[in-house]
This record gives sequence, structure tokens and C-alpha cells, in this order.
Amino acid sequence: MTMEPDHSASEAAAVGIERRWATLSIIIVGVLVGMAGFVGIHQATMPQGYVETADPKTLHLSGEFIESNLGSALEPDGSVTVRAIGQQYSFTPQCVVVPAETPVTFRATSADVVHGLLIEGTNINTMLVPGYVSVLPIRFKAPAEHVMPCQEFCGIGHQGMWGKVKVVDKTAFRNMTAARRRLTCVD
Ligand code: CUA
Repeated sequence: MTMEPDHSASEAAAVGIERRWATLSIIIVGVLVGMAGFVGIHQATMPQGYVETADPKTLHLSGEFIESNLGSALEPDGSVTVRAIGQQYSFTPQCVVVPAETPVTFRATSADVVHGLLIEGTNINTMLVPGYVSVLPIRFKAPAEHVMPCQEFCGIGHQGMWGKVKVVDKTAFRNMTAARRRLTCVD
């Protein structure tokens, strides 16, 4: 039994098309692998312009993240710096107090594994990586309470790792700073 001429011609055409598509898809894969390789090597060889480090093993012993320095500090220029650490399975301070309508900078790091820092209702959403300081600027519009969950899986207690940010009136905050150098709303 012989094949019909028509049939074999269309089969040859189909093989040709298939080959072209196979070649195209190999080229696409090649280009993507090349791009990923280039970007990876480029980023590894070009360090970020701005990286701050903090040794997680000595956080509690010295430096800006010792316990007595955690919380909100009023700076001479009127802005506020919040220093916090994440550890399995809590934030210190557990409750952060900041003034409304004021430039606020969060400086946070991790004492153990990778944690997340998310402030509900804001665009603050970052990772706390041991060894590095996460720096985030924000300005809260009005007094309110925001929940601050850890949004990076960090172990069995991850679900229970929550903090809170309490935004208070600017004047009220200033009055609080008269009595204490570092403020939190943990009692
Ligand atoms: Cu800390 Cu999840």
C-alpha cells in the first residue's frame, strides 16, 4: 500500500512548521536563560549603592539596636526615627508609637531568621533580614492604629507574630518625648 501524494506533502509541510516552532522555542529559552544569567551576574558584581549591616549576634549587646535604644526617637530636625527588631516570634517594641503628619523613618533588623514587616493600610512592606538594616520612610496622615504582622514565614510561631503601630497627634507625641528618650506604647 502506497501513501497518497497529497498526504505526504502536507505531512512534510507540517514537519517543517513544527521544526520552525521547535527552533523558535529553543531560541526563546536560550534568550531567557541568557537574560537571567546576565542580570544575576550583573547584580552580584554591582553592589547596591546603600547597604547597612548589623550583626545579629551582638544586636542586644551594643550598637543602635540595643534594647534601651529601641522605639521611637525624636530627632533634632523634628523627624522621628523608629528602631525595631524582629525575632521568633515577636517584634520589639511590640507596639510602636509615632506622630501623625511627621516624617518617620523605620530602621529595623532581625535577630535570628528572615521576618517580614508590614504595616496595614500603608505601603510599608519589607523583609527583615539578619545582618542587614531595613530603612523605610513614611508619613502617617492622621492618628490611627495599624496592625503590623510578620508577613514572611519564619517558623512554627509565625502566625502569632504581630505588632501594632499607634499613630498619635503630633503635639501629644511631643509631650510624651519630654518624659522619655525612647517611646513605645507597650506597658
Ligand atoms: Cu516572623 Cu513570620
